[in-house]
Amino acid sequence: MNTHKAPARVPATGTTNDFGADLSLASVLVVDDEPGMRNFLVKILAPRCKRVEQAANVEEASAALDAAHFDVVILDNVMPGKSGLEWLREQRKVGFYADAILVTAFADLETAIEALRAGAADFVLKPFRSNQILNAVARSIDRQHLQRENYLLKHELSSEAMEGRGRLLGSSKGISDIREILARVAPQSIPVLFTGDTGTGKEIAARTLHALSDRADKPFVPVNCAAVSPEAIANELFGYIHADQQSAGRQDGLLFHARGGTLFLDEVAELPLPVQATLLRVIEELRIRPIGSSREVPLNLRFIFATNANLEAAVEAGTFRKDLYHRINVLNIKMPRLVERKGDILELSAMFMRKFSVEMGVAPLPLSEGVLLKLACYDWPGNVRELRNLIERSLILGEIPPEFCDAEHCEFPAAADSLQAVERLHILTVLDACDGNRAEAARRLGVSRKTIDRKCAMWDA
Ligand SMILES: Nc1ncnc2c1ncn2[C@@H]1O[C@H](COP(=O)(O)OP(=O)(O)OP(=O)(O)O)[C@@H](O)[C@H]1O
Ligand SMILES: [Mg+2]
Repeated sequence: MNTHKAPARVPATGTTNDFGADLSLASVLVVDDEPGMRNFLVKILAPRCKRVEQAANVEEASAALDAAHFDVVILDNVMPGKSGLEWLREQRKVGFYADAILVTAFADLETAIEALRAGAADFVLKPFRSNQILNAVARSIDRQHLQRENYLLKHELSSEAMEGRGRLLGSSKGISDIREILARVAPQSIPVLFTGDTGTGKEIAARTLHALSDRADKPFVPVNCAAVSPEAIANELFGYIHADQQSAGRQDGLLFHARGGTLFLDEVAELPLPVQATLLRVIEELRIRPIGSSREVPLNLRFIFATNANLEAAVEAGTFRKDLYHRINVLNIKMPRLVERKGDILELSAMFMRKFSVEMGVAPLPLSEGVLLKLACYDWPGNVRELRNLIERSLILGEIPPEFCDAEHCEFPAAADSLQAVERLHILTVLDACDGNRAEAARRLGVSRKTIDRKCAMWDA
């Protein structure tokens, strides 16, 4: 079997562009017993596709499919031994994850119907011109991309996963450290586990990690393990093959759809134990076997996990596999609670105010010193999500709820010197975040060390 590798991307000029940019990302297997025809097809395809391999018979073709994933298989129908369509029908039962384009010299109705039943995606008559075959492959690739995009969009819409979008804001030490770790681990494909209380930004951090990686232009697929029923989740994740009398069809799982990109398994503690076992194998071997199939598909995928449950306790209680826990806990990033980084409240509130006022088409409400003080005094059990909801609710009501307006019960004074009080709160919070390191706090606040010393002396801090 020969492998022909074209340059990663074909320049967007000349004839190559006529078939769409997606063609340059395609992997194609050519199955034909005639060396002349194989060479002809490879010569046409290799300069325009990412990877082209060839097989001289169905045995070689099966071996090629076992070893790697192909987007398209160009299949000669008449070969000694087994016909292309017979082989295709068999392969569907084992697990066939490509589009098949059938090449045949006999265009009778019977063959066409048979091809349709066997699930061939297209049909090209011999003799053909190079454009015809390139068009057929490009059409297949386009259709696959659209199907995948459509599936993932539907999934995203149905899972209400829209809220964890946007930029990871904050200049507190907690968030700055996390941003630094994310940038450091983004280029690697190691699994990352985000822990932390509800609403602390685990999903937004996971999306940031994906966006910083070289997978950024590939799918980020979030799956909320708590939202899918335990009976359905294995099919949903790994896909399955279903057989009827005529042929075997397949439903690709989210892992397969996410290939090349990142899979975000949220609330991972909720996964049923049998699915945990399968997942462990997938992470270790980076291959998946859809349910009901005997062929595995190689998988290029980064895994990110999140939970606000105590996984160690779940392991103790026997509801979470210990081996899986160790496998996913390579790098654990704990998202700090909002009370631990009060210095970020101002930035976050201002961002939510801007965002929701634009979305709702209403004027933003002023975030007065009194309000900011109140926000800083509250302990935010729902963390950033609670802050976000408060701002959204305020814009709907047209005012900030009274409990966040009157600063009476706040431990910080809000009298004539309230601006100083806000300043004091901010500086002390930053100092806190820097473990009392004044030089570091001065650097972050963009003021001189002397200013901090002077203020602290004034406040007796
Ligand atoms: N640092 C941040 N910068 C900007 N927005 C944030 C930040 N942290 C959280 N948010 C926002 O707060 C909301 C909750 O965040 P997210 O969904 O990431 O939390 P979570 O940790 O996944 O919570 P849960 O455990 O309940 O699923 C989202 O709207 C998110 O955009
Ligand atoms: Mg979440």
